[in-house]
Amino acid sequence: MKILFLNGPNLNLLGTREPEIYGRTTLADIEVKVRERATKLGAEIGFRQTNLEGELVAWIQESKGKFDVIVLNAAAYTHTSVALRDAISAVGVPTIEIHLSNVHAREEFRHKSLIAPVCRGQICGFGANSYILALEAAVTVNG
Ligand code: DQA
Repeated sequence: MKILFLNGPNLNLLGTREPEIYGRTTLADIEVKVRERATKLGAEIGFRQTNLEGELVAWIQESKGKFDVIVLNAAAYTHTSVALRDAISAVGVPTIEIHLSNVHAREEFRHKSLIAPVCRGQICGFGANSYILALEAAVTVNG
């Protein structure tokens, strides 16, 4: 089982970015925790971050045939990107939407996810642990 974790804009700033919302754990720390848990679950992990919408689209396209599941924290593009939604839909790799914060308890513009209808499910509000919960969901996504 191969799982691709994709992280969108500003997530490279985790640790110092609005810690009262996103916590003090860096993305590198999260990657270490995900890899440790993945080893126990027997899963192989890809883990990437970009600030560019087109790069996320390209990675989603390239995942077909290479990864079994995508775990996607699209960050702000969650709320704006038809391109990401179309890529997920076109490629057909099961995708799990995640967020550190509970987007539904925040500003109204974060309540709408353009990608949610084409994802298998959504995990949000558990801080860095959202990534571990998503990993556990990913390994059982096809039964
Ligand atoms: C986020 C939530 C988004 O609304 C926001 O734009 C982010 C991070 C989260 O992980 O909580 O950048 O995806």
